[in-house]
Amino acid sequence: MCGIIGHVGDGNALETLITGLENLEYRGYDSAGVAVQNGSGIKIQKRSGKVEELKSAIDSSTLSGEIGIGHTRWSTHGPPTDANAHPHTDGTEDVAVVHNGIIENYAELKEWLRAKGYEFTSDTDTEVIPHLIQYYLDSGMDSENAFRTAIEELEGSYAVTAMVSDEHVLYAARKGSPLVVGVEDDEFFLASDVPAFLEYTDSVVYLEDGDVVVVDNDGIEFTDLAGNPIRREPETVEWDPEQAGKGQFEHFMLKEIYEQPTALTQALEGRVDPENGRIALEDLELGTFNDIDNVQLIACGTSYHAALYGSLTLNQAGIKSTALLANEYSVASPPIDDNTLVIAVTQSGETADTLNALRQANEAGANTLTVTNVVGSTAAREADDALFIRAGPEIGVAATKTFSSQAVMLSLLVQRITEDIHGTPAATEIESYLSELAEMPDQIEELLERSDAEALASRYEQSQSYFFIGRGLGFPVALEGALKFKEITYEHAEGFASGELKHGPLALVTPDTPVFAVFTGEEDEKTLKNAEEAQTRGAPVVAVCPEGHRAVDVADAHLEIPDTDADLAGLLANVQLQLVSYYAADLLERPIDKPRNLAKSVTVE
Ligand code: F6R
Repeated sequence: MCGIIGHVGDGNALETLITGLENLEYRGYDSAGVAVQNGSGIKIQKRSGKVEELKSAIDSSTLSGEIGIGHTRWSTHGPPTDANAHPHTDGTEDVAVVHNGIIENYAELKEWLRAKGYEFTSDTDTEVIPHLIQYYLDSGMDSENAFRTAIEELEGSYAVTAMVSDEHVLYAARKGSPLVVGVEDDEFFLASDVPAFLEYTDSVVYLEDGDVVVVDNDGIEFTDLAGNPIRREPETVEWDPEQAGKGQFEHFMLKEIYEQPTALTQALEGRVDPENGRIALEDLELGTFNDIDNVQLIACGTSYHAALYGSLTLNQAGIKSTALLANEYSVASPPIDDNTLVIAVTQSGETADTLNALRQANEAGANTLTVTNVVGSTAAREADDALFIRAGPEIGVAATKTFSSQAVMLSLLVQRITEDIHGTPAATEIESYLSELAEMPDQIEELLERSDAEALASRYEQSQSYFFIGRGLGFPVALEGALKFKEITYEHAEGFASGELKHGPLALVTPDTPVFAVFTGEEDEKTLKNAEEAQTRGAPVVAVCPEGHRAVDVADAHLEIPDTDADLAGLLANVQLQLVSYYAADLLERPIDKPRNLAKSVTVE
């Protein structure tokens, strides 16, 4: 959602803040702003638009200071205007605040403050925070107490960073929105996410809900809201700044597509032993899954497609399982009992819809587990257990490598769950399955080297609509192919179960609607027949399948995938479809890494 950065050190904070905002722009990019101070009051520059526009507006001769805060916004309350951009102040620029989250009781607080004479200049919920701090300062409290007392008044979710004029201190608090602290000698950073300051330090403290931090040049003090000291230890993150930058690629999305071999190697590392047919997942708090008799997977968007892939694999292994959209869960969740396992699949670990569903499952007494990319995320903390996909930071708004890593992690988990429940893993020949899994990074490497996706995207550039079909484990891949295509090209795209085409969507098929058919080795003859039904109506068919497959002779075009297990073929096909979407969007000159109206981590319902 929004991105926060804060800096306390000896040098000019401005450069660090701008770098941080650029690194965080994937969290929101409709407005940006910074506030710095150097002993002569707080100076602010903020505006609607991208960080680039903020940079051009900054006059660094007047805007400098050793301490500062910055923000990049994705609007929730009020449109993206200069006035609604953060930092927000108390009107006098004595107090400046940046915030990510939603203050649920802001309307009451605003009315109360207005009645006391405080004037508001924005439509945001955030603006109540600097006014509240000012109110308590006016009542005679020192800054730290004024900050704490103001935070205590807030209902909802927040990561907040604040500074008070002429004090060399930053105050911060978190509840329900991510906030991390970076430490490098006597230099300190506060941010929504680690890539913000990875150029400067890899030593990170993940804050927890209810934490308050006070940072000055002498160090950081961690306390709870009441002021009781708490211990928080720094961890070293293994992501390097190169990883968080675009490298030689034009877009993060392309870089992240090409990072999939590495991401999968990391996901599998230490977890599979093909020779002995062993899967070694981390020790789980839940222990074994012996007593589980039904599994619900909850997720949104691309993560939902990975969840569906996991759920279908469980069903094929004879385990009762359903994949559910997290945002529908509160109105229609299946019954939960002590034998239910609920798996929250979420790259960021911060998606509000998924967190709400997870909390609901926790309250109902389910055993809960999250499959996530972010250590220290809310999902990782709130679920009974967490399995990390280890994909590294994903900056492009469109999820790519995290989908593949989630699906692979879920495949491993499915083997383990099935073994615990049935005494044997899901795959009938586990050694060969694990060998295929271990081969995947090399197979993707090979696929990336030889892909015809760019030429294909240009061949069908003038089309009207794009359809994606698949059966069995090819179905979630068809859904994912269509989601990726529409979100970054802005062209109409739909994914269907192959067999569904004839139950309605066939009416839309014309020579201008290419049909991408995913073949996984599961009832491929039927999928081919469905594709031919579209072809007969004039639609060009693109077969996504291995060389030598019968579909290659029938189709109008071919995207090749290496031969592999039927359970994994769809994941290779998905990489080809990611490339098609990427190149189609590139031809249309779309802002690929930041598609309109979308944000990377959606922390509102
Ligand atoms: C699409 C995309 C989104 C996310 C969804 C869930 O490319 O990235 O659909 O998959 O917003 O996000 P996470 O996985 O962070 O819960």
